[in-house]
Amino acid sequence: MSSGYVHGYHERENQRLSDQAGTLEQLLHGDTRYSAGSLVLEAGCGTGAQTVILARNSPEARFVSVDISPASLEAARRRTEDAGLTNVEFRQSDILDLPFEPQSFDHVFVCFVLEHLARPVEALLSLNALIRPGGSITVIEGDHGSTFFHPDCPEARQAVTCLVEAQKRSGGDAEIGRKLFPLLIEAGFGGVRVSPRFVYADASRPEMVEGFTRKTFAAMIEGVREQAIEAGLMDAAAFDRGIAGLYRAAEPDGVFCYTFFKAVAGV
Ligand SMILES: C[S@@+](CC[C@H](N)C(=O)[O-])C[C@H]1O[C@@H](n2cnc3c(N)ncnc32)[C@H](O)[C@@H]1O
Repeated sequence: MSSGYVHGYHERENQRLSDQAGTLEQLLHGDTRYSAGSLVLEAGCGTGAQTVILARNSPEARFVSVDISPASLEAARRRTEDAGLTNVEFRQSDILDLPFEPQSFDHVFVCFVLEHLARPVEALLSLNALIRPGGSITVIEGDHGSTFFHPDCPEARQAVTCLVEAQKRSGGDAEIGRKLFPLLIEAGFGGVRVSPRFVYADASRPEMVEGFTRKTFAAMIEGVREQAIEAGLMDAAAFDRGIAGLYRAAEPDGVFCYTFFKAVAGV
């Protein structure tokens, strides 16, 4: 997985994930709280951008955060230490081969991970087995097919499609958000509830324009420039016009829209 991970593990990508987490905190996590004493598995914690939010919002819950990348785990460990959080333990592990007893967690949390997996249902089945009866799973994923903006720019749309295609070639699915409901049903979860979380950014919401349109979304598409060009998906000049088109939507008369999907289900 590490070599095929479409966004890579660079410092710039770490910064992008932090900007994303900070900007979207209320929208994505405002309704996630875990009760005192509960044990929560965060699967695919990356550099801890969501970990610090979860652990801070539920200070009396305990978190075990796992990722396949040792470097990301180290960054996540530092980040939680810097935040003064003591309720998180980190373990290096593959979601498909987790070293835990069945039914050993009250809750599982997964954010922006299934989109990178070739077999998301298998991952969900393995997570399902770890949850105690009465427990829950929360899954948050984006869906790049939900992107629209003004002014329109065909090359910007094509650049977004390049990421969708690059992710598909790495075995992932950048349009997985809309599929959370059937995926969770297939993995045997019950009471599945999916809520779309709509991001809307115009000049009246400067923090969304800066934090999401520019620093999260346009930066993410920029991050696949070399892959897209090397794969012959777009030529360099057209790709750069596409990136300019995305940043154009962050100008004072521009508008940017995107939808995340958040699912909560039981076992
Ligand atoms: C886009 S990052 C998201 C990280 C974090 N959840 C966040 O929202 O900031 C995806 C993470 O999933 C991890 N990952 C991918 N496949 C994995 C697997 N099979 N087992 C564990 N972690 C995995 C990657 O190493 C990466 O850190």
